[in-house]
Amino acid sequence: MLLLLAASLTLLSSAYASEVAGAWYAGWHATNGYPLSDVSWDKYNTMYYSFATTTSDVNSISLEGSDGSLLPAFVSEAHAHGVQAHIAIGGWGGSIYFSSDLTTAKNRTAFVKTVIDFVEQYDLDGVNFDWEYPNKQGIGCNIVNSDNTANFLFFLQELREDCSNLTISAAVSVTPFRDSNGNPSTDVSAFAEVLDYIAIMDYDVWGSWSSAVGPNAPLNDSCANSSEQQGSAVSAVKAWSNAGMPVDQIVLGVASYGHSYSVKPSDAFVSGTKTLAAYPAFNSSNQPVGDAWDSTGSVDSCGNYQGSGGTFNFWGLVDGGFLNSEGTTAQGIYYRFDSCSQTPYVYNETSEVMISYDNAESFTAKGTFIKNTGLLGYAMWQTGGDYNNILVDAINSAV
Ligand SMILES: *[C@@H]1O[C@H](CO)[C@@H](O)[C@H](O)[C@H]1NC(C)=O
Ligand SMILES: *[C@@H]1O[C@H](CO)[C@@H](O)[C@H](O)[C@H]1NC(C)=O
Ligand SMILES: *[C@@H]1O[C@H](CO)[C@@H](O)[C@H](O)[C@H]1NC(C)=O
Ligand SMILES: *[C@@H]1O[C@H](CO)[C@@H](O)[C@H](O)[C@H]1NC(C)=O
Ligand SMILES: *[C@@H]1O[C@H](CO)[C@@H](O)[C@H](O)[C@H]1NC(C)=O
Ligand SMILES: *[C@@H]1O[C@H](CO)[C@@H](O)[C@H](O)[C@H]1NC(C)=O
Repeated sequence: MLLLLAASLTLLSSAYASEVAGAWYAGWHATNGYPLSDVSWDKYNTMYYSFATTTSDVNSISLEGSDGSLLPAFVSEAHAHGVQAHIAIGGWGGSIYFSSDLTTAKNRTAFVKTVIDFVEQYDLDGVNFDWEYPNKQGIGCNIVNSDNTANFLFFLQELREDCSNLTISAAVSVTPFRDSNGNPSTDVSAFAEVLDYIAIMDYDVWGSWSSAVGPNAPLNDSCANSSEQQGSAVSAVKAWSNAGMPVDQIVLGVASYGHSYSVKPSDAFVSGTKTLAAYPAFNSSNQPVGDAWDSTGSVDSCGNYQGSGGTFNFWGLVDGGFLNSEGTTAQGIYYRFDSCSQTPYVYNETSEVMISYDNAESFTAKGTFIKNTGLLGYAMWQTGGDYNNILVDAINSAV
């Protein structure tokens, strides 16, 4: 009896059942909105410090802009809670030099040493390569080369040879790495031999650059019209596994944020009703400003000015009056749960702001998909986006 009780308590005290219950920690919020002391370490088993960026020198990666002085504290906090501490290298703004770092055999060897030295210096358990993207432009000034994917593989093979016990992962887009012709690779099985796993970034699928308001992080799109099939967890897992990535080496990247759009009431509602319409038009010249973490405009790592991103973190939706503190729709806000993407939308008719985001229901759907498909787990961008652990609790329960 006591033994049984002890066993079930052990089960209950483990918040996650999936092998990877992960999230990225954005270093630049450590002293600006989300100190390390706010992290709910017991909900996760892996945390990725973001980002170390590539530099013009293959012998170095940089923590500039990510409060790098806090990385040692991050690692010791993680370890004190039994959480693996990984470094995420690259990101949207930090991938500029991956191509030149990996283009020649000499540079690859040098970059392997750079990465291993970094891992040893900070006592890290893993490295998450977040190259956005091999042989695909990403941010405007990335160096791009048609051999990027092949060189990435050579590099990972060399790193794996030198580091058998390091957890090596890659954050990837919804389609397999581009081959030398710019098409999705049809065979990534060699990557599966050297990577522990990939984390599919199933978010930013629709955004301010799209033709209509669509789901930021669709679970499914095979049920949508063909023009609305821009990627989803279902299609991405299918694409990667068809190309030779075993499903048990796939982690689903999930989003604790959404994108906002300016939508007129005449577009927002199905004509003659107060039901929110699917894929309405929006005014791209009038990007709403997002929550308090959104930039109102800044210069990117290529030196180009970028306006407001319009991003609302989950807590930002509460902050902005769209959701109440339970994470459900606030009074006076219109809500729609899209049955195909299995993601929600909210709309404030007065401010004419519509937001596609994720909530407990969509995280539960994603967790169920992870479980039913036999994926390795989830990784959330970003841990600081959640509100009272509503999202992470939902996905942990479902998996
Ligand atoms: C190799 O790395 C060096 C130093 O970072 C860089 O200047 C050079 O351009 C790289 N080589 C190639 C072919 O990209
Ligand atoms: C990997 O193995 C080396 C040598 O045995 C050890 O020093 C290091 O701590 C190990 N690293 C990890 C992440 O387990
Ligand atoms: C995705 O949509 C297709 C087509 O409607 C359906 O057969 C499939 O069950 C859906 N998958 C999930 C995980 O919702
Ligand atoms: C698909 O497109 C048709 C024609 O534009 C439209 O009537 C229908 O509602 C769309 N279906 C979905 C799921 O958006
Ligand atoms: C879109 O927004 C811009 C900037 O606020 C405004 O000048 C323009 O009239 C809007 N366009 C439409 C069609 O409402
Ligand atoms: C909707 O937006 C208006 C204008 O910004 C604001 O005054 C109002 O409080 C918002 N409604 C809710 C329910 O937050």
